[in-house]
Amino acid sequence: MNAAVERAFAEQLDASDPLASARAEFLMPSREDGSDSIYLCGHSLGLQPRGVARVLAEELEHWAKLAVEGHFASSRPWLPYHEQLSASLARLVGASPLEVVAMNSLTVNLHLMLASFYRPRPGRDAIVIEKRAFSSDQYAVASQIRHHGIDPSSALIELAPRPGEDVLRTEDICSLLEREGSRIATVMLPGVQYLSGQRFDLEAITRCARRLGCAVGFDLAHAIGNVPLRLHDWDVDFAVWCSYKYLNAGPGAIGGCFVHERHARSFELPRLAGWWGHDKDSRFQMPATFQPIAGAEGWQLSNPPIFAAAPLLASLPMFDAAGMDGLRAKSLKLTGYLQALLQSQLSDALTIITPGDPEARGCQLSIRLRRSPADARAVFDSLARQGVVCDWREPDIIRVAPVPLYNSFLEVWQFVRALQQALQ
Ligand SMILES: Cc1ncc(COP(=O)(O)O)c(C=O)c1O
Repeated sequence: MNAAVERAFAEQLDASDPLASARAEFLMPSREDGSDSIYLCGHSLGLQPRGVARVLAEELEHWAKLAVEGHFASSRPWLPYHEQLSASLARLVGASPLEVVAMNSLTVNLHLMLASFYRPRPGRDAIVIEKRAFSSDQYAVASQIRHHGIDPSSALIELAPRPGEDVLRTEDICSLLEREGSRIATVMLPGVQYLSGQRFDLEAITRCARRLGCAVGFDLAHAIGNVPLRLHDWDVDFAVWCSYKYLNAGPGAIGGCFVHERHARSFELPRLAGWWGHDKDSRFQMPATFQPIAGAEGWQLSNPPIFAAAPLLASLPMFDAAGMDGLRAKSLKLTGYLQALLQSQLSDALTIITPGDPEARGCQLSIRLRRSPADARAVFDSLARQGVVCDWREPDIIRVAPVPLYNSFLEVWQFVRALQQALQ
């Protein structure tokens, strides 16, 4: 097929895309010549929704005009600010509003959750994570084990793909859990793996872990807003996420947390407490004894960071409007199109390490070039010079994520052209 025909085909796919208009709600970074970059990096930092400037300006104005009264008298009072986010977040993770809360950042939330859901006891003190887990998760988990006076070399069980493979098999995860179950206190895995783009079967893993008496939680940094989730029905104990990736809430934006309803009133569960997790009716009476709020809100520490939370007010309504089913339907087509182009045009030059089965991935594809790491890095640099924004992860992976809310089929086609060019 010649380039003009291919391009026309991509444009036709865009013309019949029911979500195409959402793109206009985002600000695209531009290249030196002023044209739009080909931004395929939403797995790292999502684009800025146009509405963010307005909500931030409004909060600045509330602060300027109302000062301390803004906590109560503003059109969006700051005291219960995070509550406005709960319904949409609950829809995204498949939960009830009682089970979710926007707070802190991801790693902080992971520590708070492990303080409650990693309760080692003699003979059952291990945590299962992946060998290639995101570094922050590795550090958090190992430090929690040490915090209990236990040596991670005996209590950290790391899951690795089979030799020569890049992704974990669900059957291997479950057979490890079966084998080691009696000594596992907590299982902590990703929803979508940051490097390979593999989507984990959270339902199967949770079923297996819970049957064996292990607590189970997930890092949803790369899953929320990317793949459909049903945490409540799957019976997951806890989950944590950030909102600067697929939720487009900006660098350092407020993170979030899910705690299953089963634990909503488990007030005896040890937890790290702060005044914002205390019963709302008596919070300002400053009682000496901590009485947690029922549900995920009971794990809050501090009053909500308004400027880190406000962007979600611009971003989450777009998810509500499109719906995760609609987004996923487009995502399957968009990433499927990228996969088909790469496989039909560049299969000699690269391997896609992300699972080929669309059900076992989100929108990201992770590409390994059949070159030395130095040559592969040069290809990546050439992509950047051509105005493509994706990212490089050591030692040799290029991550590319066409995001259904703002990327087009034409951009996917243009990316593959740019990669062909870079490979020459
Ligand atoms: C999978 C994963 N886990 C954890 C983190 C750490 O997030 P934070 O810096 O918000 O704690 C990231 C950040 O990109 C991530 O991708």
